Amino acid sequence: MRHIIHILALLISITCSTTFSINATHQPKLPPFSCGRSSTSPTRQYPFCDASLPVRERARDLISRLTLDEKISQLIHKAAAVPRLGVPYYQWWTEALHGLAALHNVETGFSFDGVVEEATIFPQVILTASSFDVDLWYQISKVIGREARAMYNEGQANGLTIWSPNINIFRDPRWGRGQETPGEDPLLTAKYAISVVRGLQGDSPEGGDLKDGHLQVSACCKHFTAYDLESWEGYERFSFNAQVTKQDMADTYQPPFKSCIEDGKASGLMCAYNLVNGVPNCADYDLLTKTARGEWGFDGYIASDCDASALIFKRQHYAKSEEEAVADVLKAGMDVNCGTHLGNFTKSAVLKGTVTVSDIDRALENLFTVRMRLGLFNGPPSGAYGRLGREDVCAPEHQELALEAARQGIVLLKNERKLLPLSDKAREGSLAVIGPNANVSKTLLGNYVGPPCTTITPLEGLMSYVEDVKFEQGSDTLNDTKRAVELARSSDHVVLVVGLNQYHEAEYIDREDLVLPWKQQNLILSVAKAAKKPVVLVLLCGGPIDVSFAKEKAKIGSILWAGYPGQAGGRALAEIIFGDYNPGGRLTMTWYPHEFITTPMIDMRMRADPSSGFPGRTYRFYRGKKVFEFGYGLSYTTYSYKIVFVSQSKFHLKASSNTSDLGYVSVPELGPRWCKKARFMVIVSVKNKGKMAGKHPVLLFFRRTQYGDGVGSPMKQLVGFHPVRTDAKGKVRVKFLVSPCEHFSSANEDGEMVIESGDANLVVGDEEHPIRLNL
Ligand SMILES: *[C@@H]1O[C@H](CO)[C@@H](O)[C@H](O)[C@H]1NC(C)=O
Ligand SMILES: *[C@@H]1O[C@H](CO)[C@@H](O)[C@H](O)[C@H]1NC(C)=O
Ligand SMILES: *[C@@H]1O[C@H](CO)[C@@H](O)[C@H](O)[C@H]1NC(C)=O
Ligand SMILES: *[C@@H]1O[C@H](CO)[C@@H](O)[C@H](O)[C@H]1NC(C)=O
Ligand SMILES: *[C@@H]1O[C@H](CO)[C@@H](O)[C@H](O)[C@H]1NC(C)=O
Repeated sequence: MRHIIHILALLISITCSTTFSINATHQPKLPPFSCGRSSTSPTRQYPFCDASLPVRERARDLISRLTLDEKISQLIHKAAAVPRLGVPYYQWWTEALHGLAALHNVETGFSFDGVVEEATIFPQVILTASSFDVDLWYQISKVIGREARAMYNEGQANGLTIWSPNINIFRDPRWGRGQETPGEDPLLTAKYAISVVRGLQGDSPEGGDLKDGHLQVSACCKHFTAYDLESWEGYERFSFNAQVTKQDMADTYQPPFKSCIEDGKASGLMCAYNLVNGVPNCADYDLLTKTARGEWGFDGYIASDCDASALIFKRQHYAKSEEEAVADVLKAGMDVNCGTHLGNFTKSAVLKGTVTVSDIDRALENLFTVRMRLGLFNGPPSGAYGRLGREDVCAPEHQELALEAARQGIVLLKNERKLLPLSDKAREGSLAVIGPNANVSKTLLGNYVGPPCTTITPLEGLMSYVEDVKFEQGSDTLNDTKRAVELARSSDHVVLVVGLNQYHEAEYIDREDLVLPWKQQNLILSVAKAAKKPVVLVLLCGGPIDVSFAKEKAKIGSILWAGYPGQAGGRALAEIIFGDYNPGGRLTMTWYPHEFITTPMIDMRMRADPSSGFPGRTYRFYRGKKVFEFGYGLSYTTYSYKIVFVSQSKFHLKASSNTSDLGYVSVPELGPRWCKKARFMVIVSVKNKGKMAGKHPVLLFFRRTQYGDGVGSPMKQLVGFHPVRTDAKGKVRVKFLVSPCEHFSSANEDGEMVIESGDANLVVGDEEHPIRLNL
């Protein structure tokens, strides 16, 4: 019934054509779709309105009807309306990293000034990633896409091209946007990308099920490529020239993008600000056209990061004029410029002859094809997506999923003498909640968010478990600390909630160190010293912090890392602290010691170079001391693993020509038939030895026994991961399908994927199984 009313409302608003009042400067009085039945769409007889034709054909028909000025007006993120053809204004720039987002002072796709005033805000990506659960990632993304559609149907979205996921590798712990990514591992990031794209675009979890290519919303893999620095010692993302080796490019920076496109079938791609080896990403024909479109089969649109094309002449001095810059990006394969640059200079570029109209048409075809795949040229919204409306935003099941994601992401880093979970008796006593992050709802959310449906801070979450709760923020002045210490001394239990916020790490802001803001460390130590019993330390932050001092201190009994846990984060934390949920998250990035900051952030190398003291990056290559390692995380129970079956352990790396002297064989040389035949199965038995049921991911790694000067293979690499649920004392089996060509390979210096010979092990927890790779 609601749906019928909704459609009626929609039809009424079409005829009146004023209700779609998106508060945008460019908003004409047109419905937000083309090819409708009313007088506002006098074009239904044109082929571009004929939904039975292939979309590219429809796009070409529409383009053939546009004047040059109209064409140019489509090359920027605020694509102008073409009223004579019933084409409304379209906003390409739409953000929904972990929930629908609105940006300060910038108009983007969603507005929260109508009947929908808020949206479901999931945990920041870095926390959700810790679940290692592709199905959870898929479900979250599907919900975000549904809420976006609902906003569109309510007239509060003027774009459905969402600019996420962010799948750059979290290469350096100082990176302010590391929080937006799923972490430092290329395989994990690739899997994350695939799930998110399928969820957002309305595909099935296995992929390949987009009906007639029709999209729920469009997803965009960003930022292509090797972008992971905001600002460091005078270097800025707008002009940074990342020096990347072919080797690191092939097995670290590119794999997530390749998967996002080949397997996820993303319909959007964003080129990054920075240059790679001297070429601005948005002007790189090899990257955008040869690699993405040619090798990976990308068939969507490519957007520039905002104002990236304007930097190419003015800031990067790569082009000799604005018109050359326009030619560089259009000929490289970029289609839409976030910003105004192409709107200002494409006409003069055509007049000067640096670009042709067919260069413009090429871009427009990609752009209109995606808008058509979104159903925006099929008349009023219909079908399953057309039925979504205001009640689908912040729906109870969406909010429950936000809570579930926080529960499943939170990582238990320390739990001496089983301090956690706090007992039922503790609920009767007094609880001190102390720290600057204990009661700031904004901090829960991280960046790229809109107004949340609700928020529950850690303080509020804990107050629902304990009656006698007292709070001190503790860190601003000396007196604050004094009061916090007094409170700790007089309370039965203490939970400290500290960490970072968007002033410390964010877009534009990389950290300069890896420690807690110093007042917090003082606060923690003074409070822990005064407390009757060991305290619980909760860290809210995206990037890792060197908390060695807390790891070693007996008076700090437990440490929990909760990322930026989203709207329900405080509830999830309280459930974990009081044992209603058994934590199972695992870190997706290395926690480096503070000394790591002597490594220049601009050094893009992944592999260690002991001769120059470069320690390498991420668990795959970093050889130095770690505070916590990739994949680390505790639980209230203990798990044991046994590799019970491996269908093949010895591999003969048979090369067609003799490369044996090199100690490795290239994957193309082994050939697809060999690769297919070499696939094998590993079965791991998982036993929950404790008294509490729990969910956690089982991680399977490939680790070389000898690690040295060879071809530069990683010390260790992730092969696969499976989340499992086990009852107390329960046992389950998980099956991994391992492909040596995919999972045992890495790049050589020429950027070719190779498998190095030698002995290695499959590793799960403490359990190992030998693998032999003979030439
Ligand atoms: C549009 O936005 C402006 C400024 O934010 C506001 O004053 C105005 O009332 C809005 N108009 C509508 C129709 O919402
Ligand atoms: C394009 O022109 C507008 C209006 O003159 C101006 O505000 C804007 O800065 C220009 N953009 C670029 C990238 O030059
Ligand atoms: C916690 O923050 C909320 C606002 O977000 C405020 O209403 C409440 O009073 C705060 N609680 C305490 C104990 O300060
Ligand atoms: C700290 O507390 C003392 C005693 O209560 C008071 O006199 C002093 O003004 C306070 N200082 C600040 C900076 O609030
Ligand atoms: C194969 O190996 C032999 C002996 O190491 C060498 O003489 C020959 O040049 C190699 N052939 C090729 C095609 O590399």
